[in-house]
Amino acid sequence: MKSIPQDFARSHYCGAVTAEHIGQSVWLAGWVQRRRDHGGLIFIDLRDREGIVQLALDPDRDPAAHKAAEEVRNEYVLAVHGVVSPRPEGTVNPKMKTGEVEVEVDRLFVLNAAKTLPFVLEEHVDIAENLRLRYRYLDLRRPAAQKNIILRHQVAQTVRGFLNHHGFLEIETPILTKSTPEGARDYLVPSRVHPGSFYALPQSPQIFKQLLMVSGFDRYYQIVRCFRDEDLRADRQPEFTQIDCEMSFIRREEIMEIMERMIADLFQNILGVKLDLPIQRITYAEALHRFGVDNPDLRFGLELADLSSLVAASDFKLFHDVVAQKGLVKALNAKGCATFSRKEIDDLAEFAKIYGAKGMAYAKVQQDGAWQSPIAKFFTAAELAAINGALDSQPGDLLLFVADTPKIANESLGRLRTHLAHKLQLIPKDQFRFAWVTDFPLLEWDAEARRYAAVHHPFTAPLDEDIPLLETDPGKVRAKAYDLVLNGSEIGGGSIRNHDPELQSLMFRLLQIGPEEAEEKFGFLVHALEFGAPPHGGIAFGLDRLVMILTGSESIRDVIAFPKTQKAACLMSSAPDRVADSQLQELSIRLSSKAKSLL
Ligand code: AMO
Ligand code: AMP
Repeated sequence: MKSIPQDFARSHYCGAVTAEHIGQSVWLAGWVQRRRDHGGLIFIDLRDREGIVQLALDPDRDPAAHKAAEEVRNEYVLAVHGVVSPRPEGTVNPKMKTGEVEVEVDRLFVLNAAKTLPFVLEEHVDIAENLRLRYRYLDLRRPAAQKNIILRHQVAQTVRGFLNHHGFLEIETPILTKSTPEGARDYLVPSRVHPGSFYALPQSPQIFKQLLMVSGFDRYYQIVRCFRDEDLRADRQPEFTQIDCEMSFIRREEIMEIMERMIADLFQNILGVKLDLPIQRITYAEALHRFGVDNPDLRFGLELADLSSLVAASDFKLFHDVVAQKGLVKALNAKGCATFSRKEIDDLAEFAKIYGAKGMAYAKVQQDGAWQSPIAKFFTAAELAAINGALDSQPGDLLLFVADTPKIANESLGRLRTHLAHKLQLIPKDQFRFAWVTDFPLLEWDAEARRYAAVHHPFTAPLDEDIPLLETDPGKVRAKAYDLVLNGSEIGGGSIRNHDPELQSLMFRLLQIGPEEAEEKFGFLVHALEFGAPPHGGIAFGLDRLVMILTGSESIRDVIAFPKTQKAACLMSSAPDRVADSQLQELSIRLSSKAKSLL
């Protein structure tokens, strides 16, 4: 093991040595991917973040270097000097950027040894993710992992470039702060100086960015860590990064317009893909009607049909009753799937049940157009014709029906739509289908708590024309809110805010947040609105989700250098972890006996 030799000065990255360097002497450094001994001649694949280059060591050229190479094992760290040469005829590898050359090494230094790694650093080898996460620093040596992290860097820089150019100021906001309502649980940090008091880590910088507008900064952005203690999924992490923006003196349309240009700039720069602007806008109501969900994947059809009015008077008691109780009967046409087996159809019904559906009826459209279906007998010829018309059904199609509350009918069939698209391989690769979903409801009824909750967050403004409904029918009020959806994933969301303190107070009343609670929780924002707040609005994009889509990753963990597991743990550092009793004492914290028994 050696320190770096005196005259070492890296001249190139391994992965950047190409035919244009033939004849030049180079200094390289990196990790041993592989060593091959060809009886005398030794070949080493040396790897760094830019790629791999082949080293050739001939015992006749430099016996000392050759001898040192004999000791080398995988993942040893080397510094080498040599001359770039063309590879011998027949050994050229056109798939590699460095595939036309090799480096004839005359000096080789082992800078550090490496134990045998806990797993091989080969792509396409299935290694348990837990093991990879435990040694994440090794996992990150894989070229594919490095590519994701490097692309993430480029995304952040491109976004910064765009926003800087458009007059946005990057301003930091506190991490030790007070709860910001974004609908998840807070991570709390106990205060030593104020025993019994806690900071909350921000679920987003929402309140602070609004305050920056009150201060007059006019256009703000921040690439910022947010913390949410919520159930994790493939596209959620407990700490994740937002591209967070806020603007003053701006209308909803202008925000969407500038932000879609930012996204187009990103896709152009990172992938060389030109997006067609403007991005299509669909209302929340239309998204639910056609796709059953508010984040529709537009890469395939399979749209839902609402049959409620067609079956309201039918003899099928179930459908009749559901419509009578203000539910919906919705259906989708799985084109050409009449060949599905009983088991395949049962599996689809089971899938729908995950989302609350109590059942799923089906009909196979036969060659003569008649239905083969347990429910066919309930409908008149006219009703059947109307349903067939609404679903554009043809012989060979499979029709799937769910009757339930609007929420369940939409969600279960909406999810079934995507599930079927995967099963039928209807989703084209390398396609980016965006949509702005607008006019979300401002409030939703929380049946358990028996009160309204904000759909986006409590600072979102209602549509002007719906303001009168706030007092009479709050559930019907639409918001000046918008989400950007890409391939079925919500990549960003924002809104115009209430800059009028009266409207904001009314909003708190509707949410049953009393004046005292409002004062305690968000008093600083409410007061700020009273001191000349400009009209303002903004948006935040999920950086991790964007990078996931740009890299084609299946999991959000693939695009975060040091991610957490589904259980919000870091397997490498063992966080969260127990702490010394003295630390707890200092923080005036005593553990419950239940917590102690779990440690
Ligand atoms: P919202 O809660 O919609 O809005 O968050 C904005 C975007 O952040 C991403 N995101 C997540 N990504 C990974 N893991 C998570 N747990 C996670 N949660 C959210 C999503 C989402 O679209 N303050 C508002 C924005 C505003 O109104 O300006 C906010 O935070 O891609
Ligand atoms: P049943 O009368 O309960 O045997 O149901 C008749 C058909 O309707 C069966 O194919 C059920 O799977 C289906 N079904 C049951 N509940 C629902 C529902 N909520 N929506 C759609 N179909 C249903």
